[in-house]
Amino acid sequence: MSRENHITAIDAGSHYITTIIAAVSGDLLTPQVVGIGKSRSQGIRKGVVVDLEDAIKCVKKSFTDAQQVAGVSVSSAYVSIGGNHITAVPSRGVVAVSRADGQISNDDIERVITASSTLALPANQEILHNLPNEYIIDGEGGLRDVVGMNGLRLEANTLILHGSSAHLKTIDKCMEGNDIEVDGYVLSPIAASKAVLSKRQRELGVACIDMGGGTTDIAVYEDGNLIHAGILPIGGDNITNDLAIGLRVGVDIAERIKREYGMARVADLLQKRDVIDLSQLDSNEKDTILRKDVVEIMEARLNEIFDLVNKDLKRIGKEAYLPGGVVLVGGSAKIPHIVDLCRDKLRLATQIGFPRDVEGIAGSVDDPSFATVLGLIFWGIEEGKYGRFSFGNFSPNNSVTSMKKWLRNLLP
Ligand SMILES: Nc1ncnc2c1ncn2[C@@H]1O[C@H](COP(=O)(O)OP(=O)(O)OP(=O)(O)O)[C@@H](O)[C@H]1O
Ligand SMILES: [Mg+2]
Repeated sequence: MSRENHITAIDAGSHYITTIIAAVSGDLLTPQVVGIGKSRSQGIRKGVVVDLEDAIKCVKKSFTDAQQVAGVSVSSAYVSIGGNHITAVPSRGVVAVSRADGQISNDDIERVITASSTLALPANQEILHNLPNEYIIDGEGGLRDVVGMNGLRLEANTLILHGSSAHLKTIDKCMEGNDIEVDGYVLSPIAASKAVLSKRQRELGVACIDMGGGTTDIAVYEDGNLIHAGILPIGGDNITNDLAIGLRVGVDIAERIKREYGMARVADLLQKRDVIDLSQLDSNEKDTILRKDVVEIMEARLNEIFDLVNKDLKRIGKEAYLPGGVVLVGGSAKIPHIVDLCRDKLRLATQIGFPRDVEGIAGSVDDPSFATVLGLIFWGIEEGKYGRFSFGNFSPNNSVTSMKKWLRNLLP
């Protein structure tokens, strides 16, 4: 019988902290979800920790619950990183191939990516990921897996994602405060993409849009590579706040109204005179409201979110130009008719991303809001299987020795 290992992932989101423990047997790549913990997030706003004590507490709850469900004890986890302090910049490294016979080794790959990391960053910034997109041997570009090939000069075009040292260190402290050893940090939309995008979509050109509570995250792929990632500081919780203000109700009722009666477009509302009796939601309420008013408020905010996404796509020359379309994930992707609104606003084919290839208590994670946490599990599996190295300045739990675990090549 094959040996079974556990991989744990924590998605430290602005709305929920979600932990998943997956059992992975040595010869199978399909993870078996054996434990889930989901706690309401506190102390994390728009993807960054703003109150360390609160954040430590709710990570503890999520992490402990998942272990209880799984009936196992774990001490380490892959963790998501969010926040709009993250910036993506292209970079390039050049080295001479080290072996006398010109055969390129893993060591050359490591050196060329390290060379591309020597970007002058402001003092308060650290590299989170440095992902190679293309290798060039003696001027011949467009190469992906060059180990074993021959040449004299090796170049790499990479995409560097860097972020605020202070924010990155605070999330590290949050894990340390729970005695969680960090196997690796992964930018949230990159993790989500791992769970829902097919290889074909990434080749064609696709955007994965993670519509969370506090942020809307974007990852764009083309020719199999990540070409852009960005985090917008606006999400589903802004919609809830708009409803609370516009309808003059408390945020908890606004949240229920959004989930039970919400929609993305007024045009799709069949009965324009539908009335919502608020006393059904809260015995202290006596008013009634028009469902059309709810949907109008939601549509206005969603239009703003998609306008911002479009602006981001325009900046990288991909506005209405992604043959693989858009894949929506995150809790706010569950708003009815959001696919239609997104397709019309971005002028791109749109679908909801359901996480792929999971077993066990997988039914409960068959939901677009589990994309990021399951993507972290896939990241961990691939890291374990392929052992590819990665590079960055910001190391989990401040351990320099774990730097190699920290970042890794995106698999082709
Ligand atoms: N059925 C639903 N209909 C509408 N909105 C929903 C539904 N379920 C969840 N949401 C919204 O999704 C958001 C939470 O999504 P998610 O769990 O992806 O966020 P998060 O990862 O915690 O936050 P972030 O990624 O922004 O840090 C909240 O705004 C919540 O109101
Ligand atoms: Mg999220």
